Amino acid sequence: MPIIFKKDTNQFYLHTDHSSYIIELLDGRIPLHVYWGKPLDAIAPAMDWDSSFATMFLAWDTGIEHTHFNTTGGLPLEYPVYGSGDMRDPAFHVQFADGSRVMRLEYAGHTIFDGKPALKGLPATYATKDEAQTLELHLKDALSGLSVYLQYTVIPAYDAITRAVRVVNGGEESIRLLQVASASVDFYDSEFDMIHLPGVWARERQIERHRLIHGVQRADSKRGASSHYQNPFFALVSPDTTETNGDAYGFNLVYSGNFAAGAEKDAYEMVRATIGINGFDFSWLLESGESFQSPEAVMVYSAEGLGEMSRRFHRLYRDHLLRGKYQHAERPVLLNNWEGTYWDFTEQKLLEIAAGGKKMGVDMLVLDDGWFGKDRMGETGDIGDWVVDKRKLPNGLKGLGDKINAMGLKFGLWFEPEVFSQNTDIYAQHPDWCIHVKDRPRTKWRHTLNLDYSRPEVCEYIIKAVSDVLSSAPIAYVKWDYNRNISEPGSPALPPERQQELHHRYMLGLYYVMETLTSRFPDVLFEGCSGGGGRFDPGMLYYMPQIWTSDDTDPEERLYIQHGTSLAYPAVTMSAHLSASPNHQTGRATPFKMRGDVAMAGQFGYELDPAKMTDEEIATAQEQIAFYKKYRHIVQQGDMYRLVSPYDEPFAAWQFISPDANTAMLYTFVITGKPYQPPKRVKLQALDADAIYVEELSGVEYTGAQLMQVGVPRCRLNDHLSEIAVFRKK
Ligand code: GLA
Repeated sequence: MPIIFKKDTNQFYLHTDHSSYIIELLDGRIPLHVYWGKPLDAIAPAMDWDSSFATMFLAWDTGIEHTHFNTTGGLPLEYPVYGSGDMRDPAFHVQFADGSRVMRLEYAGHTIFDGKPALKGLPATYATKDEAQTLELHLKDALSGLSVYLQYTVIPAYDAITRAVRVVNGGEESIRLLQVASASVDFYDSEFDMIHLPGVWARERQIERHRLIHGVQRADSKRGASSHYQNPFFALVSPDTTETNGDAYGFNLVYSGNFAAGAEKDAYEMVRATIGINGFDFSWLLESGESFQSPEAVMVYSAEGLGEMSRRFHRLYRDHLLRGKYQHAERPVLLNNWEGTYWDFTEQKLLEIAAGGKKMGVDMLVLDDGWFGKDRMGETGDIGDWVVDKRKLPNGLKGLGDKINAMGLKFGLWFEPEVFSQNTDIYAQHPDWCIHVKDRPRTKWRHTLNLDYSRPEVCEYIIKAVSDVLSSAPIAYVKWDYNRNISEPGSPALPPERQQELHHRYMLGLYYVMETLTSRFPDVLFEGCSGGGGRFDPGMLYYMPQIWTSDDTDPEERLYIQHGTSLAYPAVTMSAHLSASPNHQTGRATPFKMRGDVAMAGQFGYELDPAKMTDEEIATAQEQIAFYKKYRHIVQQGDMYRLVSPYDEPFAAWQFISPDANTAMLYTFVITGKPYQPPKRVKLQALDADAIYVEELSGVEYTGAQLMQVGVPRCRLNDHLSEIAVFRKK
């Protein structure tokens, strides 16, 4: 059984196939974190908290009361509460009606059951009764009647433990929630490196690794979106952990809004990891009888380094987070007109682009920004009335879509449904539908205001507007963009005491809209986007199984972005397109081949005007697409191994292995070449050592052992050399 309660020791054992997680009820009352790591069947004898370090360490923090455990200070807590004697970063912080913030959360019972309950209104991983088991640990504050349910689900075959927290106000008076983290883990060890994924527009999710120092170190967002700047992912790893060796603890929040994720190293050399909704500018009024559900945190442990940690996230997300028709289906190769035309196109031009794409072998034409409104010829043009611009598309979306379909291509469309500009009908009718504070200035980003998705009427309006368009034409794909963040949080629809609920209510509204639209249009492939990769998180992936990874399509930059993104997110979620050279974002010129090879490590597509391609490029594109279609199931559903990191040297190598383990794809890229440099020997991983593998292009045979131990040579004399080799088991 993945979850066992040992009554004699008051301990809960949560087992995945390759890890164990142990909680103990101290004194039968206070849940302590005992262990998380390699599989462990029992701790015998049970922890002697009274005489062990608790007694030593509590001396200063908590005075003489510690032996009775009337205080929680200094203890390794499972869910630390502010106002209970613990002085570190709390997971939980509330204010009662009398203004007090002091409480004791103590064990009040538990249930263990098969399966995994859905989280109301929130995205989350899912699993059947055969695949998962859940523990609900009920904690209660006796004086106020406040209950907290710690929800743990174990998905053993995926080595994942998910956590969430439900708060129920069982008292008579209202309570203000100030902080409700989804998960907190107190480690005994203090020697950790923290890895996280900071970035910026066009340079998202860059890997940063640093030694934990004393104090709090966290990644967070206060922008109303998970953002380009930080990602709701971090890992704590041993200082000597590599891709293939060592402890790696990964944390990821299934949420797309304001989050806080990080660790505190305390004076007693313990480390507390916390992840959840950002407590900054958050509060939630919980009336008597009401409940509040936190988002879900996914926790993955690997004893085999970062590579295995990532693959565990990838497998879990592919099989237990993504949904819908395209979850496991081969995804289409698309051609997007954005960098080919920007806003300046006609139906004729789009049909020419589609014809070029058809010749290349793409599956779909995607029409990006500019198809709607009265003067959408640039960023200053109107956005928000989702009505086709007949001057550009005289036959409407249906006319265009039918013609594209007649060419044998599918048709996709761009939307940005969370914003509107002031030169629209919808703004004229509902000027108060934007997020703002009366009489205060409003920051316009890209000339837009943010629609207030905390208002149900706004959500219903958008559902109708998008549904009307999707029903009006043969639209098989939607790119859902969001090009701003929330700068002046305020909603005239919320009472003063609920203003700080805005950010979370926005997310609940957005998730409701996405749930409604994706279930109403199950055949449509939805792709998330936010000025590129400004909202690349598991919350979005629950609704949209792929995300535009970055507006930066320069293959050199993409190596860093895709390498970083792969720490938590599988290749099947990363949209990657070949675009023109010199690159529109960086001005860098790169070979057509490298642009294609990098993009073929994700959801492959093109983003250019085929009319500007040479005949040779068209022929190469035909080969690329045929190659990608032959092997895309390996990239999309196989396991990924990061062999050489571009963060370590001016070279990168990635490997994908087919789900049946018979075929390995090796991607290699030179960033900067050097004269007189011997070839780089790239060593593959996870092959069958005794099997013979044939390299498909050359027919050369290797043993698995040779590929893994000797490696294959790759020239690194020139910049931007790249290669994809396929090794098939004989
Ligand atoms: C954002 C997206 C781009 C493109 C433009 C259109 O920047 O990330 O891919 O869709 O908007 O305005």
